[in-house]
Amino acid sequence: MPYIIFMSKKNTQYVCQACGTIHSKWAGQCTGCGEWNTLVEEVAEKPSPFAKGARTPTSKSTLEFVALSGHETPQPRRKSGISEFDRVCGGGLVPGCAMLIGGDPGIGKSTILLQVVADLSKSFHCAYISGEESIDQVRLRAERLGLSKATVELTAATNVNDIIATLKSGPQLYQVVVIDSIQTMYLDQLDSAPGTVAQVRACAAELIRVTKDLGICLFLVGHVTKEGMIAGPRVLEHMVDTVLYFEGERGHAFRILRAVKNRFGPTDEIGVFEMTDKGLAQVTNPSALFLAERSEPVSGSVVFAGIEGTRPVLVEIQALVAPSTFGTPRRAVIGWDTNRLAMVVAVLETRCGVQLGGRDIYLNVAGGLRVTEPAADLAVAAALLSAAFNVPFAGDAVVFGELALSGEIRAVAQSELRAKEAAKLGFAKIFRPRIRKAGKAKENEVLETITLGHLRDLLPFFGDRKKKKEEAE
Ligand code: TYD
Ligand code: MG
Repeated sequence: MPYIIFMSKKNTQYVCQACGTIHSKWAGQCTGCGEWNTLVEEVAEKPSPFAKGARTPTSKSTLEFVALSGHETPQPRRKSGISEFDRVCGGGLVPGCAMLIGGDPGIGKSTILLQVVADLSKSFHCAYISGEESIDQVRLRAERLGLSKATVELTAATNVNDIIATLKSGPQLYQVVVIDSIQTMYLDQLDSAPGTVAQVRACAAELIRVTKDLGICLFLVGHVTKEGMIAGPRVLEHMVDTVLYFEGERGHAFRILRAVKNRFGPTDEIGVFEMTDKGLAQVTNPSALFLAERSEPVSGSVVFAGIEGTRPVLVEIQALVAPSTFGTPRRAVIGWDTNRLAMVVAVLETRCGVQLGGRDIYLNVAGGLRVTEPAADLAVAAALLSAAFNVPFAGDAVVFGELALSGEIRAVAQSELRAKEAAKLGFAKIFRPRIRKAGKAKENEVLETITLGHLRDLLPFFGDRKKKKEEAE
């Protein structure tokens, strides 16, 4: 490896990612700042204006300022017709946008993109460039998905210079281009191997520059590495306009497409899909799906009324409290934050006198969804209480509210939207914070509303049954 690097070509340089010092050779440690492993190969196209010796001003042109108002007529968004996907993109693709689709290998990135471009190809000129799979493999998948007739132009390539030359020279301009995946692409100006930070970043920069000039919507597929980052230290996220993550548990059929950055629309928006034998199917009512497997009320199960992006989503939170056989009790969490669980447990112990300390706690968000809202605190607390007392919580109720360390229950945004979704799905009760944000929101007429000011107020809903149980024993 060092041998190849020392023979580096003339037009490449090694730049320290920490301090920016430019080196002509690779080294383990930067001589500028002393950091280790920060040198990355880059293409040195022209001498930098910041380099030593470039002291004379190179340009004397002045800048022109404009008013904030006034604009060019925006071009219409390119919609795929897969509404779950379009919504995550903020209502369709903006011409010239660069999107990164990240996710674990095998989660379904190639599948969803093939479905999206097949739909887009009905109205736009689309290209699918596969660096990972052979043409036959992609064709086989297209056949399985029933998309063989779509007018997508398919090719297998990994050389970015060839790709750019093709995009520029085509008889008809491409409008949508998929690069699957950026980790397999390489620029021959660089000596580094495909998939390295240097290659991934240089290839993406080059592709984005060209597609922006040409008004092409560019999709870059990026595998998430073991550390949960795309191609190393999130090297691409700041370069693209939109970052979508495709998430889901391998064992589950549900897949969630989440916008974590979007220059042309809201973030935190999710699209829900189900992996079937004919590709990814849209799930337009995710609440019904996440609650589909609930039956009789059991202890430890509580329905949380959450908001994902602009949409209310009801999910079941399951808790199990078991006697611990180890000195240090286990805390296992799927789909929620471990630190927040520790906080809720501490509040239950110190403010409500419920002893959970010596027991194992397991918490699971059903259906493979990851909940990030603090509004789930109250639902988690209710699930823990229900599990600890072994008393089922009201099966016809939904819960939301944020917990303060004092045990008070804080208001959360969009209570009406949450209540509306609960009413739509046939729930009868809603447990929510007493204080409202920004005053005068209306009560939902269909639902019985139980307002809580402190976590203590939740105990009577388990207490009665608990007392009866104790009397019986
Ligand atoms: P893929 O799109 O190749 O994943 P990625 O590009 O993110 O690596 O998805 C591969 C998985 O999806 C594979 O495990 C098989 C499954 N799959 C189905 O279940 N049904 C289908 O119709 C297709 C095409 C794939
Ligand atoms: Mg793939």
